Amino acid sequence: MAKLSVRDVEVAGKRVLVREDFNVPLDEHGKVVDITRLEAALPTIKYLYEEGARIILVSHLGRPKGKVVQRLRMDPVARELSRLLGRPVEKLDSCVGPDVEQAVRELNPGDIILLENVRFDPREEKNDSEFALSLARLADLFVNDAFGAAHREHASTAGVARYLPAVAGDLLVQELKMLDLAVNDPERPFAAIIGGAKVSDKIGVITNLLQRVDYLLVGGGLANTFLLAQGHEIGSSLHERDLVAIARQMMKEAETTARAELLLPVDVVVAEEVKAGANAQVVAVEDIPPGWMVVDIGPRTQEAFADVIARCRTVVWNGPMGVFEIPSFAVGTRAIAESMAATDAVTIVGGGESAAAVHQAGLADRMRHVSTGGGASLEYLEGKLLPGIACLREKE
Ligand code: 3PG
Repeated sequence: MAKLSVRDVEVAGKRVLVREDFNVPLDEHGKVVDITRLEAALPTIKYLYEEGARIILVSHLGRPKGKVVQRLRMDPVARELSRLLGRPVEKLDSCVGPDVEQAVRELNPGDIILLENVRFDPREEKNDSEFALSLARLADLFVNDAFGAAHREHASTAGVARYLPAVAGDLLVQELKMLDLAVNDPERPFAAIIGGAKVSDKIGVITNLLQRVDYLLVGGGLANTFLLAQGHEIGSSLHERDLVAIARQMMKEAETTARAELLLPVDVVVAEEVKAGANAQVVAVEDIPPGWMVVDIGPRTQEAFADVIARCRTVVWNGPMGVFEIPSFAVGTRAIAESMAATDAVTIVGGGESAAAVHQAGLADRMRHVSTGGGASLEYLEGKLLPGIACLREKE
């Protein structure tokens, strides 16, 4: 059932606590270097101030583990947000307590404050009830717009919903609409491309998608474990030997009971070292030389994957095809981004590294949806119920 959205409730004059995912990368001078998540948050914030709500924003930044870490203060986020909104965003130095309560009392309709990094308080990640209640007491309504943190059961993502009416923000609604469409109501044929370093991170998503998609394309470091399961030598490539049996079982499932056809790399780029400028060559998966490492998918694999993408009506992508941080090993990842940009199918890019790759390639605008959530979109594609979503009210 659909979740109640911020557009379905009265917000004028109300104190609204909005959980955002402002976990953005900062450079060594503390400047925000990627504003994607801030831009994604703007529609809900604009709607709230236009409607005359009193806006209290809260987010985490990094993993300070319950302590105050100076370089993870929210000040740069407040400055950047204020620039994007073209209005003041007052940054407070704590999350709860008398100063915050006073600042909230002074809010006029349309005013915006941003609380300090909520993970400076050790009670946040413990989903402590007292802490959640102190946050909830600041407001009349809770809006969760932090899709990227919706897989965390923390005080500010889920706990506050025990004490306040809780609804979804615009970004959360959009993320759910797109991911839900892919998982539950895709136009077919439907392909998923799964990459990334480790099988262990992707067992859940592969298992779930094998039953839902028509094609499952596997690349990246995790494909090495599948190549081992096929009986190939993989040189010194990254792999998880203890998961070879699981990979074999997934391949068997794909052949027998699963809906999906599983496609693995047929050729790969191998390098002597994983660093820029290292000796590299393209080889068939049968010919990986001892001591070399798989760092990307090869051109025949790119072509085979591109063919499937061009044939499908829905394509979901999560995880790079190689060591894409090194430009010469990013060719396969870029090829996937280009194939997805070239189709008019519904294209959905899971957050994290695949989103970074699409942005890096300048192709984000050519995708139907690029998720702002890395771990969150992965868990959603695994079919899990995310705590930050489960806690929100359902539409009547
Ligand atoms: C993310 O960047 O994926 C989210 O902000 C969640 O951050 P976390 O993994 O530190 O909980």
